[in-house]
Amino acid sequence: MRPTQAAFPAGRLRRLRSSAPLRALVQENTLTVGDLIWPVFVRDGEGITEEVTSMPGVLRRSVDLTVQAAAEAAELGIPAICLFPYTDPALKTQQCEEAWNLDNLSNRAIRAIKAEVPGIAVMTDIALDPYNINGHDGIVVDGEILNDETVEALVKMALAQADAGADILGPSDMMDGRIGAMRTALEAAGHRNVTIMSYAAKYASAFYGPFRDAVGASGALKGDKKTYQMNPANSDEAMRLIERDLSEGADMVMVKPGLPYLDICRRVKDTFGAPTFAYQVSGEYAMIEAAAANGWIDGDKVMLESLLAFKRAGCDGVLTYFAPRVARYLAAG
Ligand code: PBG
Repeated sequence: MRPTQAAFPAGRLRRLRSSAPLRALVQENTLTVGDLIWPVFVRDGEGITEEVTSMPGVLRRSVDLTVQAAAEAAELGIPAICLFPYTDPALKTQQCEEAWNLDNLSNRAIRAIKAEVPGIAVMTDIALDPYNINGHDGIVVDGEILNDETVEALVKMALAQADAGADILGPSDMMDGRIGAMRTALEAAGHRNVTIMSYAAKYASAFYGPFRDAVGASGALKGDKKTYQMNPANSDEAMRLIERDLSEGADMVMVKPGLPYLDICRRVKDTFGAPTFAYQVSGEYAMIEAAAANGWIDGDKVMLESLLAFKRAGCDGVLTYFAPRVARYLAAG
């Protein structure tokens, strides 16, 4: 029931905004470090970091320095780190075999982090694009992105990541039937507590541009991803996808991109009540950083406001490249 609102002047909504303590008392949503998942880019070598040009402040790190970054994140109280490999172009093939290599870059990084930083959950990405000669998330034959053959490959990829010790698998490929197939395979292999955060409502978005540079997929990508990622015009379809993925065994669901799709986040949370996450993607990060670098906005304030918006929209957490910066900011009070 809605509380009755007294008419003016008995009712003055500004009263509760008139001082900092009163504002604090009636604050409805709060951003905490426990809401954050930090996406990081991993590369080959040792002792190496390199800047991602289109994402100022974001680095690709070799495995040893990724472990160090994970330790710092754990120290800050960040609950999870999400790994994205920058794969050597020489390892990209038509069949994407490197994706399920037990010793690929991503699986080596998972093992190293789990061995040295047991206090942080490791999330992965499941899609073929880092390993695909044509940059797509699925296997391509004669220009078509094949669904069922791709799902078979993704299941192998999921099992390899679970074997390496991943806590949260993140299928970001948007093929049909992949959640059920992965869940069945994980149960059969005894991986009963490996969780799946499905990129269930993932849109064919231009906001992913800087990410594709970061993982070295933009040069390879031929065409677009519209036959598997969602049309930005649709909302009911997102509900069907979320329902389908939950019914196939997803533990958590994600909406992606984030800020331009907050209406979807709210609808998902209200409709299903499941653990709901959003991905504040590379283009969202790049826009904030570019405006801040020009002195056009206050970067810290916009960072915090943008993340709080996800909580207001009903999200339980958010994947954000700002994670360590915001964690430090929150710790400083
Ligand atoms: C790969 C994947 C993408 C992102 C996460 N996983 C790119 C894409 O689908 O093209 C985007 C993340 C970002 O933009 O920050 N399937």
